[in-house]
Amino acid sequence: MNPSFGFLEFVIQLAYLLAAILFILGLRALSSARTARNGNLMASVGMLLAVVATLMDHQVVSYGVILAGMAVGGAIGLWSARTVQMTDMPQMVALFNGSGGGAAMLVSMAEYMRGVKEGSLTREGAFTILLGALIGGMSLTGSVLAFGKLQGLVSEKPLTFPMQRVLNLVFFAATLALGAYLMITPGIPGLWAFIAASLLLGLALVAPIGGGDMPVVISLLNSFTGLATAATGIVLNNTVLVISGTLVGASGTLLTLLMCKAMNRSIGSVVFGAFGAEVATASGGNGNAAGARSAREVSVEDAAVMLAYAKSVVVVPGYGLAVAQAQHSVRELAELLEKKGVQVKYAIHPVAGRMPGHMNVLLAEANVPYPQLIDMEEINPQFSQIDVALVIGANDVVNPAARTDKASPIYGMPILDVDHAHHTIVLKRSMKPGFAGIDNDLFYEKKTMMLFGDAKDSINNLVGAVKGL
Ligand code: TAP
Repeated sequence: MNPSFGFLEFVIQLAYLLAAILFILGLRALSSARTARNGNLMASVGMLLAVVATLMDHQVVSYGVILAGMAVGGAIGLWSARTVQMTDMPQMVALFNGSGGGAAMLVSMAEYMRGVKEGSLTREGAFTILLGALIGGMSLTGSVLAFGKLQGLVSEKPLTFPMQRVLNLVFFAATLALGAYLMITPGIPGLWAFIAASLLLGLALVAPIGGGDMPVVISLLNSFTGLATAATGIVLNNTVLVISGTLVGASGTLLTLLMCKAMNRSIGSVVFGAFGAEVATASGGNGNAAGARSAREVSVEDAAVMLAYAKSVVVVPGYGLAVAQAQHSVRELAELLEKKGVQVKYAIHPVAGRMPGHMNVLLAEANVPYPQLIDMEEINPQFSQIDVALVIGANDVVNPAARTDKASPIYGMPILDVDHAHHTIVLKRSMKPGFAGIDNDLFYEKKTMMLFGDAKDSINNLVGAVKGL
């Protein structure tokens, strides 16, 4: 063996090992808001190491094309990091996810074609390649459809039709049978049919999913992409791809399960439940609730008095806070109240907003002290002693129907028990429902007062009014 090649190989493998360690440490650090920034940095350095090590591998040819690809990818990454709003993050994750799946699919296709041409394809090799192509293809189209739904390019409602599950299952079985055939009898036309079937399966998987289940399906597709990448790593005999793919697959799966738990849904009900298909929005076109019930409005001045003379206030942030970008104003209001002797805490629901940790990230951006963020399990028993719960752009995560109404699609989802507080002030623009598309009894309770308007405007008005007291 050429000794210099042996040394290079050693350096490459060492770099891969270091990269894998950095990925794992990075993931660990990402699990806490305090260390997340470092985690991100560690994982990025790991990725840089892995890329550089791969470029040192002499099987990799045409550095020009690779550098051009890195420049295009880097430019898109930089542009999206600077311009994409945090509320659009799930869509961005879906697109990145789809790109990863698509890349895994293309690599698998190229390897299969090469194997067929060179006559070097073993059955075991073909199995891994086809697995990567199948999962990568499904992840590509599934993610693109998820992106379209979240971006409002296609209807977010689940697309369902009679016998859908049976047909999907038959189609899936037929695709697997074709894959088995291609393992035994390799052929390029068959591969194209297999790829087309994989792409269609991704659409078939995501089409019947909608509403509050969309972020969960994105996380599920994320774990698919991880698995496809790991399969590609096996095909290319690239250790770091196998490790990183497995990490993405495992963390995506864990995240999916955690989200399901937080919404009291099973994976089966997310994938097959067609959430939102049957959900009748209880409010009319203008967002006013059906029936004779009416909600009580409060003026900025009265709300400010309630807040300023309360002993304790719990801020309950939701998706609307992110839309309004009101995090800095909230912190200002909280600081004002604290100066007046009010104890202020923030109640964090695990699926408030549109992505895991959404509220933590948002409030951290505004330098809200981390110890003031209290998790649902810890804050819920305290609500009965809280003077005012200030709900800002949250809806589903404070809907008491989840506790009481067995017919509600969110029945069983753990919620923040704001209705147990002495008073509740809700900041939103109208009576329109939240993500799940259902009416919220909280808004009609005697103790609840609605302060209508954009959350940022309302909070800024409250700040002005509290200052004047
Ligand atoms: P939502 O139930 O979606 O309610 C958000 C509310 O914010 C809306 O009712 C909206 O009412 C209000 N809003 C929007 N823009 C506003 C603005 N500029 N100013 C003031 N209010 C505004 O939010 P949530 O309570 O945070 O619940 C999250 C939902 O997402 C749940 O259904 C959850 O299951 C789902 N979900 C989340 C995740 C993760 S990981 N976070 C994952 C899966 C599903 P108006 O239009 O009347 O203003």
